[in-house]
Amino acid sequence: MGSFYISTPIYYVNDEPHLGHAYTTVMADVLSRFHRIMGDDVFFLTGTDEHGQKVEQAARGRGLEPQAHADEMVVRFRELWERLNISNDDFIRTTEPRHKQVVQQILQKIYDAGDIYEDEYEGWYSVHDERFWTEKDLVDGKDPQSGREVVKIVERNYFFRMGKYQEWLIDHIKTHPDFIRPGTRRNEILGFLRQPLGDLCISRPKSRLTWGIELPFDSDYVTYVWFDALINYISAPGYLTDTDRFNSWWPASCHLIGKDILTTHCVYWPTMLKAMGVTMPESVMGHGWWMVDEQKMSKSLGNVIKPLALAEKYGVDPFRYFLARDMVLGQDSSFSETGFVTRYNSELANDLGNLLNRTVVMADRYLDGRVPDVDANASTIDVLRTSAAETREAVQALLPRLDTSRILEIVWRLIREANRFVETQAPWALAKDETKRRELEQTIYGLLETMRHVAVWVYPVMPERAQAMWVQLGLAGNVSGSLISDLAWGGLSAGGHVRPGDPVFPRIDDYRLDDQSTESQSKEQKVAEEPAKEQKEEADNLITFDDFKKLDLRVATILEAEKVEGADRLLRLQITIGDEQRQIVAGVAEFYSPEDLVGRQIVVVANLQPATIRGVKSQGMLLAAAAGEGLALLRPDPSVPPGSSVS
Ligand code: ME8
Ligand code: MG
Repeated sequence: MGSFYISTPIYYVNDEPHLGHAYTTVMADVLSRFHRIMGDDVFFLTGTDEHGQKVEQAARGRGLEPQAHADEMVVRFRELWERLNISNDDFIRTTEPRHKQVVQQILQKIYDAGDIYEDEYEGWYSVHDERFWTEKDLVDGKDPQSGREVVKIVERNYFFRMGKYQEWLIDHIKTHPDFIRPGTRRNEILGFLRQPLGDLCISRPKSRLTWGIELPFDSDYVTYVWFDALINYISAPGYLTDTDRFNSWWPASCHLIGKDILTTHCVYWPTMLKAMGVTMPESVMGHGWWMVDEQKMSKSLGNVIKPLALAEKYGVDPFRYFLARDMVLGQDSSFSETGFVTRYNSELANDLGNLLNRTVVMADRYLDGRVPDVDANASTIDVLRTSAAETREAVQALLPRLDTSRILEIVWRLIREANRFVETQAPWALAKDETKRRELEQTIYGLLETMRHVAVWVYPVMPERAQAMWVQLGLAGNVSGSLISDLAWGGLSAGGHVRPGDPVFPRIDDYRLDDQSTESQSKEQKVAEEPAKEQKEEADNLITFDDFKKLDLRVATILEAEKVEGADRLLRLQITIGDEQRQIVAGVAEFYSPEDLVGRQIVVVANLQPATIRGVKSQGMLLAAAAGEGLALLRPDPSVPPGSSVS
């Protein structure tokens, strides 16, 4: 048993929370709950970032004082987290005295140590991004990152000697492979650090910005918002105010953030800590972005998805499940409501919901609802026992990687195994044969015990639905009180009584996309016109390895699927191969409906010459197995990040 400290970014209160904010917070909650059932002590911190120009501008825009604006906005975050069942242990606001006081003490300390100095500053300032750029950074006279206007500024300011820690930082990153995750993000930062690292301007003159924490050594200035915000990670657990508490939590196990704020967390923050003489956090995990129509979802792009609307429409737990399952750690994900419903129906309603339902109904019907007294090691249920043990091992091994998508995939393997077990055992047939009574009891015991495990595994992601499962299984206490260590096979004791009830995951049969929906329109097409081509190969049975190597086979995820007008057999698919999106046309319409395909993974030949089929461009071909009159799409099992190559 250890301690686990996880944080989310503290969100700006200039905005209402959207799906992206919900994602990070739900993920941190899921990971916190996993660690709690591992028996760890958990400190889960979230909060709000309330100072700085953006917030001040938003407040003034509404005719409010910044504090009044922040007081109002913070409620939206708190309420959303409550609604989404977020189990944070603390919520920090940067306008609280407990935070401001620590920021000031730290500034003084670093100033006294000589790592903060005053200098004249001349540069270009992006108001929107609250960042300075030098003349040579600018692109066409604009902010090189956002393309926004910049204004020239000459003023005296205070600087943090960040540059002096460059070599140390590079070394720290290189010697701590898990410090920045995933590896792509780590490389990004190491790349960034190949350029000389300058010092960081950490003040704003009050003549320009008043909404901030005053510098303790110069009352004409306030602190730059990032120098203030990052410190929340240590002010909340008690740095400089409650040493015992601080030492019991710090270093943080994980700062979970989006990749948009990587530099601040992987360059500013570690160098600040170094200057304070505080140990480094164990890891900074930069997850990908939720995209809508191939653009990052953000308020400024006007394409935000409202988490509350989705949770109200489909339930909090299914929403949490979707977030935790759909986004592969570190990669971007495209949000679509169709994708959501597809996953819900196939993974929650079909796989999990049916398994629960048939298990308790059969226990009720054939065994009077009683959990039978059988030998948990009976060979009849070997397959479940083995699979449950493998699940436990795999999940525990995956947890440190924070990859909930993979974890859920593993748990769903167990669920599918159990569904297959029901088919092969056919308890309904066993029930008709008195001599098979023992086998029937073993079968049902095995299924009930598997369901107990599954309820614990899905608890961190879907705490309420897991509890509903727990109740139907007739288990005592609360699922939240279970520990992974209780998941030794055979832990389910005889004599309990199942309680069949309403389906925990009713199918969504009829759903209506709101204007929220994110179906993207047909993409820009860059493919050159080419006549449809039939690929005919000489029947030369043997090929060389080099021939094979010419094929670029990739895993793709289907983002959208629709019928091709006037062609009964064809579907037009929008797929993603990792970084790249493509359109392909596939002759599968007789076997798969478009809804069945969205969200599904396939294997495609990625380097096939583009073709135009029935007037529709196709950039690649999918692989399927011919089975008599039927057709079965190939897919990786378990799923893998799109773009993965097949060899
Ligand atoms: O940056 N996809 O706050 P912020 C995934 N106050 N996650 C997203 C997202 C998207 N499209 N959009 C936002 C700030 N996020 C600072 C942080 S921390 C010391 C200070 C999530 O309100 C993601 O976690 O702009 C991202 O890092 C964060 O919201 C940015 O929130
Ligand atoms: Mg932002």
